[in-house]
Amino acid sequence: MAHAGLLLLISLTISVGQAFSFYGGSMTFMPGNRYPGGKVEMHFYYRESGKLPCDPQVAWVCDSGDCGILTFSEPEVTEQDHSGQINWCQYERHMTTNVTGDEPFTLSDSGCCWANNVHDVREWTLHSLVDTRQRSDTQTANKSPVSATIPNIRVPQNCFQHLHLLAHDPDGDNVRCKCAFCHQHPNINLDEDSCTLSSNGTLDLGLHVFEFTMEDYPVSNITLTKENGISSVRNPYNQTANIDSTPLSQVPLQFGVEILTPVHSCVPGVNRPSLLTPTPLHGDVQHAAVGSVHIITLRAQSSGNSIFDFQVSGPWNMSKSLRNASQGVTEAMLTWTPQESDLHHHVPVCFTAETLQSQSEMRCIVIIVAKSRVLSGEAEVFCEENSISIAISKASMKGIDQNWLQLRDPTCSLTSNDTHILGMVSLDTCGTTVEDSGDFMVFRNEINSFENPNEVITRRNQVKIGFSCQYPKVASVSNHYINKKSDFIFTESRFGTFSYSFDIFTDNNFSSPVDPSLYPLEINLMDVLYMGIAAHSALPEVQLFVESCRATPDDNPYSALSYDIIKEGCILDGTVEVYHSDARTYDFGIQAFKFTGGYNEVYITCSVILCAEGISNSRCAQGCLREPARKRRRDVSKETDRHHITQGPFRVARHTQHSAAESENGGSLHISAGTAVFSGLFIVSIVVLVGLWVYNSKKTRATDRMYLMSNF
Ligand SMILES: *[C@@H]1O[C@H](CO)[C@@H](O)[C@H](O)[C@H]1NC(C)=O
Ligand SMILES: *[C@@H]1O[C@H](CO)[C@@H](O)[C@H](O)[C@H]1NC(C)=O
Ligand SMILES: *[C@@H]1O[C@H](CO)[C@@H](O)[C@H](O)[C@H]1NC(C)=O
Ligand SMILES: *[C@@H]1O[C@H](CO)[C@@H](O)[C@H](O)[C@H]1NC(C)=O
Ligand SMILES: *[C@@H]1O[C@H](CO)[C@@H](O)[C@H](O)[C@H]1NC(C)=O
Ligand SMILES: *[C@@H]1O[C@H](CO)[C@@H](O)[C@H](O)[C@H]1NC(C)=O
Ligand SMILES: *[C@@H]1O[C@H](CO)[C@@H](O)[C@H](O)[C@H]1NC(C)=O
Ligand SMILES: *[C@@H]1O[C@H](CO)[C@@H](O)[C@H](O)[C@H]1NC(C)=O
Repeated sequence: MAHAGLLLLISLTISVGQAFSFYGGSMTFMPGNRYPGGKVEMHFYYRESGKLPCDPQVAWVCDSGDCGILTFSEPEVTEQDHSGQINWCQYERHMTTNVTGDEPFTLSDSGCCWANNVHDVREWTLHSLVDTRQRSDTQTANKSPVSATIPNIRVPQNCFQHLHLLAHDPDGDNVRCKCAFCHQHPNINLDEDSCTLSSNGTLDLGLHVFEFTMEDYPVSNITLTKENGISSVRNPYNQTANIDSTPLSQVPLQFGVEILTPVHSCVPGVNRPSLLTPTPLHGDVQHAAVGSVHIITLRAQSSGNSIFDFQVSGPWNMSKSLRNASQGVTEAMLTWTPQESDLHHHVPVCFTAETLQSQSEMRCIVIIVAKSRVLSGEAEVFCEENSISIAISKASMKGIDQNWLQLRDPTCSLTSNDTHILGMVSLDTCGTTVEDSGDFMVFRNEINSFENPNEVITRRNQVKIGFSCQYPKVASVSNHYINKKSDFIFTESRFGTFSYSFDIFTDNNFSSPVDPSLYPLEINLMDVLYMGIAAHSALPEVQLFVESCRATPDDNPYSALSYDIIKEGCILDGTVEVYHSDARTYDFGIQAFKFTGGYNEVYITCSVILCAEGISNSRCAQGCLREPARKRRRDVSKETDRHHITQGPFRVARHTQHSAAESENGGSLHISAGTAVFSGLFIVSIVVLVGLWVYNSKKTRATDRMYLMSNF
């Protein structure tokens, strides 16, 4: 062992000084077969990034303990630079060894040279701690945490906020990240629990390098048992308790973050690409079967710069094909056929969408390879405004037993009828989680089987049924009318799906919306436009707030020419009369007007907010704010974002006999450009192309995949 290590060290020293520079590396490992006599075969998967040519730098050597005899595969290049800028590459290499499985051992390597970086870090050291003793909970040796990163993470200086790293554990352990020299980076914090880097200030331009160690800790006390039966206890990680908390394993995750020159805007989808559905979400777990093609679709948008590639860190033989889908939208299809040797492996796959100037957020997922024994059952998922229902067909899953199934929050119960097992969760209870996938909000929960702790064996299948509903963050239903903005649907995490209608009414009873077939409609002198805004939400206690309404001569609410009717909750126009205003409706009238200067159309855009009722500091409770509102932290659980809804155009036709009477209305109008003239002086004809408000009560049905997993 020692000899091998020495030789490798020597060969490594010789390679120092060559053009290759290190860009990071990651390792995962898992146990394979257990042979008679107590030998365990351990499988190691190592990814390394560097500059071309793709020469492996790291040559793992035994650092302590008995590592057996390591067998190395040839390295295979899995990804390389297509921008022509840096010429980085990533390769993967596998190693196996047979060990007797009694004492922990460590593999490591170190060397020079990190790629040139801001803090002039040169030496890298990689280190893995392996323990092959049998765990009392899984009855096999521990599997390491699973993580990876793409070879070249790049973020414009003004856009770096968070970097979420993958921290998956095949045994369900608690994964923690430690960062050896993170104090070198002044404005960076690491959350060790979630493995998230955050910045609280500006980072210097250039490459920042990070040397992480990922550790796993059991979630409850377990024992590790040697071949001779001697066992020792391992405890969950607890910073405060004065007990031994040694990790079960340690693996490296090292990477660089390139801070690029600032871009004009960090809004995703413009200068920075944003990932769109059906791109998997960060942390997703997928299942693939040996010998079957597994496909992952990535989709991204960047209207400002063109996407030329998706950078992928994936396993051997994963292939990628690119396609320009539509204006600014590019897709990639990743295909991979797991081999027998990949069986039971939890394979990390990370990806980003690339433009020359920037990169999308990085997402990483895990693919679990099973022996094609992943049975699917039939389930239907119903996505409703504020809840998700699932119906699992009993006939499709033999031996499924409702009494041993639970939702994420076990206090929420499942029901059943003769044919189906039924579950219903609301969007913010029962452990339902929410993720923002760019263009959609995704709500997820899962049904899992659980064991009777008093049973030694079980004959029930292990069941895991993940289900989710995705709602567009912003949607417009009635775009079949010219006036395409008559109905507005939004989804937010705590409010589910809600919508607003914005209608014109025939009179101040606000009971009959103007019938679109009657248009164009003539209104007599001094007529008032009756408008009603209503909020529609399945939640019982929400309150509508109309924060502002602004008239513009076109459908751009930020038009240079505009007239404020309501601003910061205060009514500015003297002709406005509010008729009813309750928790969910706001009905008001205003004397019709037009913009002077040859503009014939008027659009009205209001910004509206929904709040939970009875919250004293919500925007709804504040009402009219004469002072410009100070930046207030929005409590996302108590109020929604501000949403804009638009009505119009109102076409103002002037009767010829009145044209001479045009004059300016009193001095109280403050208009950014031009002047609004009130309709008292005109015969107003409103050509309102109002789409009848069609409430989309249809249920979106989505059939979700489900897995009946046999224990392996
Ligand atoms: C481990 O031992 C088994 C059985 O002796 C053998 O088939 C296998 O090739 C060995 N693996 C390695 C990596 O040496
Ligand atoms: C960022 O956080 C670190 C650690 O908490 C702190 O030392 C540093 O002063 C903070 N920087 C700024 C700009 O707030
Ligand atoms: C776990 O082990 C620690 C120390 O070994 C002990 O103090 C604690 O009570 C144990 N917890 C449980 C739930 O058994
Ligand atoms: C850590 O240990 C302390 C003292 O034993 C205990 O009060 C606390 O609940 C533990 N925390 C966790 C997260 O288990
Ligand atoms: C990649 O795929 C080819 C053909 O499908 C196969 O011959 C080769 O062994 C695979 N390589 C790896 C490293 O799995
Ligand atoms: C997509 O469009 C861009 C810009 O027009 C072009 O450079 C690129 O080659 C196209 N990619 C594919 C896969 O067609
Ligand atoms: C059980 O519930 C499901 C879902 O609501 C329904 O489709 C099915 O017809 C019901 N079966 C019986 C026997 O009532
Ligand atoms: C408004 O409603 C009231 C009561 O329903 C009715 O008496 C009145 O005539 C209505 N006004 C108009 C203008 O339709």
